[in-house]
Amino acid sequence: MKKAELAKRQALISHCLELNESGLNRGTSGNISIRHDDGFLISPTSTSYRSLTPEMVSFVHLDGTWTGPIEPSSEWRFHRDIYRAKCETNAIVHAHPDFCTILAIHGKEIPAIHYMIAIFGGPAIRVAPYAIFGSQALSDHVVAALRDRQGCLLDHHGAIAIGTTIEQAFWRAEELETLARQYHGALLLGDPPLLSDRQVQEVIDKMSGYGLSRKEEL
Ligand code: 13P
Repeated sequence: MKKAELAKRQALISHCLELNESGLNRGTSGNISIRHDDGFLISPTSTSYRSLTPEMVSFVHLDGTWTGPIEPSSEWRFHRDIYRAKCETNAIVHAHPDFCTILAIHGKEIPAIHYMIAIFGGPAIRVAPYAIFGSQALSDHVVAALRDRQGCLLDHHGAIAIGTTIEQAFWRAEELETLARQYHGALLLGDPPLLSDRQVQEVIDKMSGYGLSRKEEL
């Protein structure tokens, strides 16, 4: 295995471990992928992140065929379809974070309650309608919910964040859960006032060089 591929496999595993250590996810829920060659590396299905070694990470070609000692994540379809739809995306984090999932259960998209929504590319985080996990129907809903966006919620399921790097996708996954927690809290005090589309666009422009943000990504 080439050094660069090994580094991607190691980065994938370390971010899977961080996903659970950060409290964003539990058990074998969630999955992470990184674009590679003519496909992507992805966490194997229903396997404890703590037991993962680089060789256990699956590789899925964009045509859906795969190699590896264990089947790829059951959600390989939406990972594949996001990579097909968004050529700038190189990493995808899917998890079941509590506040994202609470809002998604109610079918509530996240509106512009905080300026950090700008890092997702627009004034609202959409909710992909429910379809059973692993299905093509779910993947179709996810790709539509991610149009011009870098994250979405999944009805009765969880959340997805994407990025040009695994670090950026993971950063967005954490920020998405923060936005969801803030929106949940703000709703307890009534209908929260929102930033206007113009105010969100101003932040998108201002953040083009900030931290893990990249103008070409937004
Ligand atoms: P996998 O273990 O197959 O990745 O499934 C976890 C999950 O979260 C499905 O949505």
